[in-house]
Amino acid sequence: MKEKIRVLFICLGNICRSPAAEGAFKNLVIKTKLDHLFEIDSCGTSGYHDGELADPRTRKEAENRGISLTHRSRKLTKADLTYFDYLLVMDENNFQAVSSLTNEKNIQDKILLFGKFRSDAGAPIVPDPYYENEVAFKKVQDLVEDCSLGFLNFLGEIKCLK
Ligand code: 4NP
Repeated sequence: MKEKIRVLFICLGNICRSPAAEGAFKNLVIKTKLDHLFEIDSCGTSGYHDGELADPRTRKEAENRGISLTHRSRKLTKADLTYFDYLLVMDENNFQAVSSLTNEKNIQDKILLFGKFRSDAGAPIVPDPYYENEVAFKKVQDLVEDCSLGFLNFLGEIKCLK
């Protein structure tokens, strides 16, 4: 049997953007009947919120789309870097934080800005909504759904899904 494609979404606190992305991408692969092909998780570079559920504002936006977020925040580990096939970071700070953990080219190549998969010409980042209002959380939800679609199409194009 083909090995699953292992996807890890990464932000700073693992309570806003990366759990939203994890939920959106899981929802998409379930809807497209591709969920058996994936292992999907999320984490943070900081560990500030270890063990916590996603921020209530993140959970509310996900609930509005029929997505229930049950993930508990956890900090990125070195083992994650080798275990996962895709390390999808939300912004440049996350990129630097993950990138600084390794010199290995094959791991560096796995680190991608999730925002590069968006369908419009906006900046390739998912902005941190933590100190913002509900509008920012809705924008994050919209953006991670859009990027999920783009990422799934990307995997199809590079024939991971064939
Ligand atoms: P996230 O948002 O990285 O999208 O989960 C944040 C959550 C918590 C903090 C910063 C950003 N914080 O400073 O505690």
